[in-house]
Amino acid sequence: MGTWHKIIFGDCRRMTEVYDESVHLMITSPPYYNAPFDYPGLFAGYEEFLEMLREFSRELYRVLAPGRIAVFVTDDMLVDGEKYPVVADITSIMRDAGFRYRDKIVWRKPEGYTRISRRSGLMVKHPYPMYFYPDNIQESILIFQKGKFDYNYVRALPPEVVKNSRIDIGEFQRARWFLTVWEITNVLPFEGRVEKGVAAFPEEIPNRLIRLFSFIGETVLDPFLGSGTTSKAARALGRNSIGYEIDLELLSVIKQKLNCDQLSLSGDQVEILVRSDAKRLRTDLQRRVAKQKSVAGKPRRGV
Ligand SMILES: C[S@@+](CC[C@H](N)C(=O)[O-])C[C@H]1O[C@@H](n2cnc3c(N)ncnc32)[C@H](O)[C@@H]1O
Repeated sequence: MGTWHKIIFGDCRRMTEVYDESVHLMITSPPYYNAPFDYPGLFAGYEEFLEMLREFSRELYRVLAPGRIAVFVTDDMLVDGEKYPVVADITSIMRDAGFRYRDKIVWRKPEGYTRISRRSGLMVKHPYPMYFYPDNIQESILIFQKGKFDYNYVRALPPEVVKNSRIDIGEFQRARWFLTVWEITNVLPFEGRVEKGVAAFPEEIPNRLIRLFSFIGETVLDPFLGSGTTSKAARALGRNSIGYEIDLELLSVIKQKLNCDQLSLSGDQVEILVRSDAKRLRTDLQRRVAKQKSVAGKPRRGV
């Protein structure tokens, strides 16, 4: 049986295309507030960013099925020398919306990760107390749950579905999925990559989470779809997906990532809907990023 994928260009604070309690798993990475090298000036201020997430969390509560999981891949963000506590604030917002806080996994990136702000260099220049700022090589994978899961659901599933959703315990152990620290290489910033300017997460993240928290044939939602990584992983794993993305300029990126040209051969279906609240963001953001980069040479700017 083929899978289906709905891509909706519009604001995820309103997911009118999605029925109540019809989503089995959410995996997402919201914009990293006003991250200097991805989203400079996207929000007028931190409170506006949080308010967007508050509104979204209530809509998420409506569409997620009871007992199911919602995962955020995110991190605290350093903007103009101030560190914003995104991880703590998303945790409070989700709890206020009625979700249970279930777990936090640290996603550890390789030490050679090139997109980090090299703040520790300050200590080399000034080897004295009070000059310490660490280089960040991690993000948080925050796991929430809507109430408790009823395991009778699994007993009622067709045996074929349960069998085909079985997790490979050899891989689970070898790749150390059982720990609260996951070592996964980030998307490498090769020139010409399809995800340029999107702050995409590597496919391995939705790949693991989809296998850990959904059954074959179920529906995975990514409300901040970006380049389409979650839908791509869902498709590869026999799950359906719904993705919301506000930036219409990402249409060709998503089509490319989902390999839309080869669809007829696979039996999978992709439906794309463009709503009137879709925007065009990428070109403007990239222009601002280029401007930031041209002034980023100044020593203590990122600290
Ligand atoms: C960090 S990126 C997601 C990257 C994605 N995980 C990937 O692998 O490509 C966040 C995305 O959210 C989109 N976005 C921001 N606000 C939105 C909103 N209110 N509704 C839907 N999408 C939004 C941005 O345009 C951006 O593409």
